[in-house]
Amino acid sequence: MSEDNRIIQFLENESVDSALLDGVREYTEKYPVKEELKERIPRPDCPYYGKEVWEKALSAILTVKNLLLTGPRATGKNIFAENLAALFERPAWNISFHVGADAAYILGTDTFDGEKVTFRPGPLTEASEKGGFAVLDEVNMAKNEALSVMHSGLDHRRILDIPGYRKVDIDPASRFIGTMNYGYAGTREMNEALCSRFVVLEMPVIAEGDMERLLKTRFPGLKPQMASQFSKLFYELNNKAENGEISDRAPDLRGLLDALDMMSMGTPSGAALDMCITNKTFDRYERGLVRDVIRARIPADLKKESIFG
Ligand SMILES: Nc1ncnc2c1ncn2[C@@H]1O[C@H](COP(=O)(O)OP(=O)(O)OP(=O)(O)O)[C@@H](O)[C@H]1O
Ligand SMILES: [Mg+2]
Repeated sequence: MSEDNRIIQFLENESVDSALLDGVREYTEKYPVKEELKERIPRPDCPYYGKEVWEKALSAILTVKNLLLTGPRATGKNIFAENLAALFERPAWNISFHVGADAAYILGTDTFDGEKVTFRPGPLTEASEKGGFAVLDEVNMAKNEALSVMHSGLDHRRILDIPGYRKVDIDPASRFIGTMNYGYAGTREMNEALCSRFVVLEMPVIAEGDMERLLKTRFPGLKPQMASQFSKLFYELNNKAENGEISDRAPDLRGLLDALDMMSMGTPSGAALDMCITNKTFDRYERGLVRDVIRARIPADLKKESIFG
């Protein structure tokens, strides 16, 4: 394991089960990453906070399971997948499973280079051949025909059979991490055949203590009393959404972090929170409710100097 693996140091400080961390060390020693693939190892800009999620995921990855991260928006599914690849020191490939994703995009396709036809491997094939972590992003959104090409890779066979190319044995170091959003319009259920090939980890909303740590990491200059106010605001919006008083568009952690980014550039608090949170609800009545909750906690005219020290 490389000495500057900051994530294993972070997990030691979080008191993550030491047997799991020993397993990670064994894995990285067994599967050293090739020099030319090192630039593909993600460098996440913040750690994923949530000890239980870490322990569940490490157990799954060490026992060669495909891991499906499910949960509402902005619960850190992608940042966690990046953290996992960084911890295990694996090159990562991201594959977007939009409705138009097909076998050619996922597995690869023949291309003509002016002289001859060659096969250009797709991201799933590359990750499978090169011992990478493949992040199957929003995997429920693709069409079933496209997904079925992965079945033999995701079960005990660990093989991709690519017509016109060859059989690809999946490298023992490779892992597949799916993400799946649910809970709002436009999301689809995942078909059973695919779902049964994953272990499913439900991603919780970040815990209150971790939320303040996240804000401190992302915004080192944020005043402590402001960090506490923004954190409380997030949970207020979250509770209202859980009680059905507002939709789940407002309690969007990504929106809150975006608003803080804009405030740090000098946008007044009210305008930043409107743009990043309130205006994402399109029902006028609901928008009024969301704005009231925000204004009750954060005055609209706060300037950068009162928020950041
Ligand atoms: N537990 C957490 N630890 C660290 N960061 C978190 C956590 N939960 C959410 N975040 C932050 O929330 C933001 C959104 O994270 P990310 O994009 O990974 O979410 P997601 O679950 O993939 O969202 P979506 O479902 O909308 O794609 C990031 O800035 C991330 O750092
Ligand atoms: Mg995501």
